Amino acid sequence: MKSSSSLKPRDGFTTGLGVIAATLGSAIGLGNIWKFPSLTGTNGGAAFLILYVACTLIVGLPVMISELAVGRRARANAVTSYGKLGPGQPWWLIGAAGVLAAFLILAFYTEVAAWVFAYIFKAATGGLATNDPVVTAQAFNGLITSPVQSLVWQWIVLAFISVIIIAGVSKGIERMTKRLMPALFVLLLIVIVRSLTLPGAGAGLAFLFKPDFSKVTAATVLAAMGLSFFKLSVGMGTMTTYGSYFRADQDIPGTAIRVMLGDVLVSILAGIAIFPAVFAFGFKPDAGPSLLFITIPAVFNSMPLGGAFMVLFFILAAIAATGAMLSLLEVPVAFLNERLGWSRTVATIGTSLLLALVGSTAALSSSLLADTKLFGKTFFDLFDFASSNLLLPVGGLFICLFAGWRWGAAEMRRELTNSGALTNARIVNLFIGIVKFVTPVLVFIVLLNGLGVIKL
Ligand code: PHE
Repeated sequence: MKSSSSLKPRDGFTTGLGVIAATLGSAIGLGNIWKFPSLTGTNGGAAFLILYVACTLIVGLPVMISELAVGRRARANAVTSYGKLGPGQPWWLIGAAGVLAAFLILAFYTEVAAWVFAYIFKAATGGLATNDPVVTAQAFNGLITSPVQSLVWQWIVLAFISVIIIAGVSKGIERMTKRLMPALFVLLLIVIVRSLTLPGAGAGLAFLFKPDFSKVTAATVLAAMGLSFFKLSVGMGTMTTYGSYFRADQDIPGTAIRVMLGDVLVSILAGIAIFPAVFAFGFKPDAGPSLLFITIPAVFNSMPLGGAFMVLFFILAAIAATGAMLSLLEVPVAFLNERLGWSRTVATIGTSLLLALVGSTAALSSSLLADTKLFGKTFFDLFDFASSNLLLPVGGLFICLFAGWRWGAAEMRRELTNSGALTNARIVNLFIGIVKFVTPVLVFIVLLNGLGVIKL
């Protein structure tokens, strides 16, 4: 490791508000606006919502708290953090797997973000002005089947987030997310008011809040758990890296609980923005991943002033995607910067170039590579499935084992109470108990069951 980084004080988040903005910015993303509605729409509405919230409380949140604690204690990138606190054993592999997961997620995530960015322009220039889903489907297919458009929009997205990451942790990530997060909430509230005041909005609310458990299978439970990992950005070192930028006096459990609540709230609000409108105009909620890009534009164009609301909605989605992508890109960049001594600029450009390459397989999954399948899935679907339903849960499992057993309860307690300065012993002990005994067992069972290895 080069020593240059130890001469300068390490960059980090400067204020308590900045910590919340950056961490919430990581959690809130296309997961809320794209994945959550599409999964909820295809998995029976409220039943899925209940499973997802349960997984968030018992799985996502405890893993998040563990990661933040590990990161802040080690004050290093994900690979170094686990290596430092678990020396002599290959725990650093958790961080290495995280860097890999960040790549796979970014590979398809930057493409979905690419569609969102492209849609802002399409919506603003009237390219989506139709309430016929057949026509919006043509518009969407035109975008995703065009290799040039798919690639160029993905590069634009990569260049955009690279510029912010190069600016640094406090001057780039913190400053950006502090501005974007309030804007996101305001835009979301505007769209919700529009959706809820449509005649017939009640059916959408019933769908979102009245459970139908007949649609729930083992795969549904795994999908809900995978979403809880994906949503809170846990199981792959993002929160470990962000924890390493937390101030020493930051209340980790309190921050994590706030971020979790904010994130779940935004998912539910996104559901409230989308489903009432979908039902009000007689559309179906189960379009899956294309819900956002085919159904939603048609829905917006069915309402008065819909075109303007649609532009706002896609700007909101782009904002959400940005905070999440920054945190994903920070994982490899921090690693290359601290471990290999690359400057932030070189590390970011190098990572983005490699991503443009790996990501192109996802970008071209509906065009040139549509027939190239691995395990029966296109690259895009494979990256999406493998990260949420495999890498993040496995990563989360090992993070719990590491934090709860190897690093250990005593150290975890010290980090989570700020060496006793916080009076949160009861809640900290509860979380440590969950991290040691409940989360790993649950993740293990849901994973094997969801993959069909065991049958419950
Ligand atoms: N939490 C982000 C979202 O919901 C995605 C993400 C996953 C970000 C993993 C970082 C790490 O969109």
